Amino acid sequence: MAMPDPAPRRLPLRRMPATTWARQRPTWREASPARIDGALGRALARPSGNWYVLAASAEVRGDRPFGRLVAGTEVVAWRGAGGELHAAPGACPHMGAPLCRGAVDAGRLVCRWHGLALSGDGFPGWSPFPVHDDGVLAWVRLDRVGGEEPLPLPVLPERPALAPAIAAVESLAGRCEPEDVVANRLDPWHGSWFHPYSFVGLKVTEVPEGPDPDPDRMVVEVAFKVAGRWGVPVRAAFSCPEPRTVVMHIIEGEGAGSVVETHATPLGTDRYGVPRTAVIEAVVATSPRVGFALARRAAPAVRPLMRMAARRLWRDDLAYAERRYQQRTAKPAD
Ligand code: FES
Ligand SMILES: [Fe+2]
Repeated sequence: MAMPDPAPRRLPLRRMPATTWARQRPTWREASPARIDGALGRALARPSGNWYVLAASAEVRGDRPFGRLVAGTEVVAWRGAGGELHAAPGACPHMGAPLCRGAVDAGRLVCRWHGLALSGDGFPGWSPFPVHDDGVLAWVRLDRVGGEEPLPLPVLPERPALAPAIAAVESLAGRCEPEDVVANRLDPWHGSWFHPYSFVGLKVTEVPEGPDPDPDRMVVEVAFKVAGRWGVPVRAAFSCPEPRTVVMHIIEGEGAGSVVETHATPLGTDRYGVPRTAVIEAVVATSPRVGFALARRAAPAVRPLMRMAARRLWRDDLAYAERRYQQRTAKPAD
C-alpha cells in the first residue's frame, strides 16, 4: 500500500542522471542571440522612473555614512534619528569634502573638514535625492542622470512577505554596463554548461514569443546541485520588471515563492573610460519546510552561505557580462 506522501518533511533531493560535462545536451541552438536580444530590448524599453538600487538596506546605517558613485553621481546615504533613509550629493556644500568620510550624529551628517551638520531637509546648494527603502534594498532616484519621466516609487518585483523569509544581499562590480548583466540573466541556457557546480539538467521550458509577449518571461526547470549527482529540482521564471532588474521567481519545488532579484547599478567609468557596474543581488527565500523555519532562526549563520553561493555564480556571470561588453564594443578588425 502506498504510504501518504511525507513530502513537506522529506528532503527534496533527487538523484540526477549520470552525465559528464562535455556530454550534456548542448543548448546553443535554443540560446538564440536574437531571442536574448529581443528580451533585453523589451526590458530596456520599460520605465525605471530614474530609480537605482544604491545598496542593501542594512548597509546604510545610523552610525556612519555610506558612499557610492551611481551613474557617475557621488551619492552619500545615512539614516536619520528615526532610522529613516536619506541620500544626497556626496560633496559637502561648503568646500566639497567627501561626506562619506564624515560621521553621523543624532541623525545628522557631519562633515569632517569643518563640521557642517546636514540633515535630510537639505542646505543651500545641496538637495537630498528621493529615496525608497523596500526593507531589503535602498533605492535612490537620480532624475538628472536617468532622464526619464520620474516615478514616485521604484518598480519593485513581487516578493514573499519578509517576516517569514530570509533575505540576503550580495554585491560585486564588473567592467561592463547594466545591460550586459541583464543580458547574462536573460540567457538561462548557459546554466548547466557554465555553472556545472550549481546546476544540473537545466531545461528552458517556456520562452516569450512574438514582439509583445504576455507574460514576458522565461521558465526553466533545473536542479540546484547539492552534492555529487544529488540536486533540488525547481521550476523558475525569469522576468524584467524594469530595465536594470532581472527577477527569478521559484514557481515550483523547494522554496516556491522565493525570489532572486538581480539589480544592475551603473557606477561610472574608470580612468580608461571603461564603465563599471555593480551587481546587487537580493535573495528573499521562503519555504513551508520545517527545516527552513529552523534555518530562519539561524538566519545570521545561513546568510553568509547564501551569499557565498551567489558570489561563486556571480564571479562567473560577471566574467560573461564583461566579455559581452568587450565583444559588443570592440573595434572591428581590419
Ligand atoms: S567642506 Fe564640509 S564643512 Fe567645510
Ligand atoms: Fe549564470
